[in-house]
Amino acid sequence: MGAKIIALLGSPLLKGNTAKLLDEAIRGAVDGGCDVEKIEVTTLEFRACREIFYCREHEACAMKDDMTGMYEKFRDIDGVIVASPVMTMGIPGRLKSFMDRFQVYFMAKYMRGKPMVPEEKRKHRLGLYLGISGMNVPFVFDGAKLTVQAFFHIIDVKYWNDLLIRDMDTIQNLSTRPELLEEAYRKGKEMAQLLRESAI
Ligand SMILES: Cc1cc2nc3c(=O)[nH]c(=O)nc-3n(C[C@H](O)[C@H](O)[C@H](O)COP(=O)(O)O)c2cc1C
Repeated sequence: MGAKIIALLGSPLLKGNTAKLLDEAIRGAVDGGCDVEKIEVTTLEFRACREIFYCREHEACAMKDDMTGMYEKFRDIDGVIVASPVMTMGIPGRLKSFMDRFQVYFMAKYMRGKPMVPEEKRKHRLGLYLGISGMNVPFVFDGAKLTVQAFFHIIDVKYWNDLLIRDMDTIQNLSTRPELLEEAYRKGKEMAQLLRESAI
């Protein structure tokens, strides 16, 4: 069976710079032999976590919306790519809410000791984070990176690698920097090849 990757786009611009970067990583991952499903988070219908805590006792969320199917989908995959612009020194609110809704996984693992992800999958799941920021300051990805790391941890994905591109306010159009797009392609391909080797 081939390895599967979910590629999450956090930007509301479906053809913006973050999307371009993600599409290159996806192309690499497909060439590396994986099946990739792209999810444009801002096109989903869902609300932020309301702390109902139904998931304390159940492998599900009390809120029924586009997140409902995600819990099953994320169980089955081998890798995740998160592509996101920095917003207010973190990730966009919509993407953050998407991640927060994985409290279902958090509770299963840490409160009930029954992880949602099967043991064999947990051992080899990898994550790649592609980040873009407008500013060119050294700490600009700190907040976003902590959030992505926490998300990966909760869904049993190892933070394998990242590609962090600063100074988009100056660069403006990522197509003028083909070497960065090539790097995204390479990282996508390398991750896919690793996942193929360890796929079960
Ligand atoms: C609401 C909003 C908040 C932003 N906040 C930050 C920020 O705190 N730091 C930063 O470096 N860039 C910030 N940016 C700039 C974006 O990270 C940058 O424009 C990025 O290239 C957008 O990628 P996209 O066009 O693919 O969505 C912000 C942009 C928006 C729209």
